[in-house]
Amino acid sequence: MVIPVMTSDGSASLFNKQIGEHYHSTFGAITESRHVFIQHGLLPVISAKNDIRIMEIGFGTGLNALLTLERCFNLIQVYYETIDILPLAQNVISQLNYTDNDHLKTFSNQFLQMHSTAWNIEVKLNEQFIFKKILLSLQEYQPLADCFDLIYFDAFSPGVQTELWTEKVFGVLHNALKKEGVLVTYSARGLVKSALRNTGFIIERLPGPPGKRHMIRAKKT
Ligand SMILES: C[S@@+](CC[C@H](N)C(=O)[O-])C[C@H]1O[C@@H](n2cnc3c(N)ncnc32)[C@H](O)[C@@H]1O
Repeated sequence: MVIPVMTSDGSASLFNKQIGEHYHSTFGAITESRHVFIQHGLLPVISAKNDIRIMEIGFGTGLNALLTLERCFNLIQVYYETIDILPLAQNVISQLNYTDNDHLKTFSNQFLQMHSTAWNIEVKLNEQFIFKKILLSLQEYQPLADCFDLIYFDAFSPGVQTELWTEKVFGVLHNALKKEGVLVTYSARGLVKSALRNTGFIIERLPGPPGKRHMIRAKKT
């Protein structure tokens, strides 16, 4: 069961009762997503590109996709692919207040479309943004080799979903990245760093968002 909650920056998040974990930091959902995925993932990667292919692990509320749409608008062509196994119910989606935010209002139709569109089909959200959500477990996901520039790794934490933070999973993702491709994640736990290193990533430990000391950016060299 998934319950809507409010976080400290006024943006909504969810709590999964079965897993016992929030979808975002309770110190601020938008603040955390902007910090980890946009500021330390997207921005450094797009600085030298005209187009980008992004993969997100764990679509959930769609917040990372929305913030990416906002940041890339009128700037760069985007292909955005995201996977999840637990689609949210409409009554939960309708309580996500992200597009009440002044900067995100403009994208409210596209945000609704991300949620209402069918799974496993590519849709064009605007002239520059192609979006596809795939209904599948990460453990079964077999993306093609060398086809993504950036991965947002946003599964539930390694404490509750250890099976998703393994060398086997990171090996598949490493293979899916282009050379110089980047994976960003909010967890800087020791087991995550070792699994990433053992898969061939070079890792950087960066300052985390409010409430978290560190986060990780990993590069395929
Ligand atoms: C921490 S939440 C973050 C979701 C999203 N990025 C957001 O901002 O709302 C983790 C997400 O991973 C999804 N998930 C859990 N197990 C998964 C699996 N085996 N494969 C794919 N996604 C999974 C959950 O359903 C949830 O949506």
